[in-house]
Amino acid sequence: MKIFTLIPKDFSLSKKLTILMSVIFLTGIIASSFVYYNVLFGYAKNELNTQANLLISTLDSVRKYTNDRVTPLLQEQSEEKLLLESIPAFASTSVFHVLADVYKDKYGDYLYKDAMFNPTNLRDLATKDEIKVIDKLSQQHQVKGAKIDEGFLTIDGQNHFYTARPIIITQASCLQCHSTLEKAPPALKVLYQQGKYQANAGFGWELNKVIGTKIVYVPADKVYQSTRQSFILVLGIFIAIFAAAIFLVNLWLKQYVVRPLNRITQVAEAVSLGDMEADFEKKSNDEVGRLAEAFTRLKTSLVIAMKRLTQKNE
Ligand code: HEC
Repeated sequence: MKIFTLIPKDFSLSKKLTILMSVIFLTGIIASSFVYYNVLFGYAKNELNTQANLLISTLDSVRKYTNDRVTPLLQEQSEEKLLLESIPAFASTSVFHVLADVYKDKYGDYLYKDAMFNPTNLRDLATKDEIKVIDKLSQQHQVKGAKIDEGFLTIDGQNHFYTARPIIITQASCLQCHSTLEKAPPALKVLYQQGKYQANAGFGWELNKVIGTKIVYVPADKVYQSTRQSFILVLGIFIAIFAAAIFLVNLWLKQYVVRPLNRITQVAEAVSLGDMEADFEKKSNDEVGRLAEAFTRLKTSLVIAMKRLTQKNE
């Protein structure tokens, strides 16, 4: 093969073999680690995606439960005092905070938000990045298809994977609290007067328009860190196996090929200098052993030929 000729001819057998194996292994390691890296990080992203989707779906269910079952029950009772617990968005956000608090070890770094252009509760005001997400969801809303956005965002220096779904007002009944202060129920007006909510906050929302996003953030650093660790571990094992293979093949080559060949060379040199006592030892039945055998026959013929020659001379 042509590539074999690239290895300099003067190199020893073991050097040539080491170079050849290193090239093969290096290409193997680079190619396989590239594939493995992509597969592994694909899995990691999938994992983040699954977690984020499960969480956002759960909170959506809380919202729906509150809307369908709790809100109607409380409507009559809350004429004077608005029971925030009956508000779907309040319920889903509260449930998330319970989750992040009770299961702090596992979900303490997770984030959930109803990010809005003009929220009732200022806590829900969309950040610059979230405004971009809302704009994207708004563009998606114009066309048919997936109503979801996902990707990575840095929050407080931490990399997060996010899943975002649009907030769209589809029921006219929502607007009794989200159109103008005049139309708002007295119990809600009280909260505005008490200063719990700022003037105009959470009003002027329009039907069937994307006015915000429900967004879940899953911390990505930890997942990626453990992915990176397992990648390095597997790569390390690979490299160790390859290095051991190169070492063992070299050892084998020295023991069964290089050293016997060197011995044959030494003996051949001794014989050529007239030392007929030197013996070609045959230590194996392979090609090297057969070479030693052939040299022994050659030496025998040489000895006979020399004997005849001296006899003739005498
Ligand atoms: C009885 C009044 C009332 C009704 C009806 C109501 N909301 Fe609200 N909504 C509120 C209040 C008050 C808040 C702020 C809760 C808080 O402080 O967390 C809020 C908050 C929200 C939020 C969170 C973002 C923000 O503004 O802080 C969303 C989203 C939302 N509502 C959507 C809806 C939808 C959709 C409907 C109809 C299904 C609806 N609301 C019906 C009073 C209402």
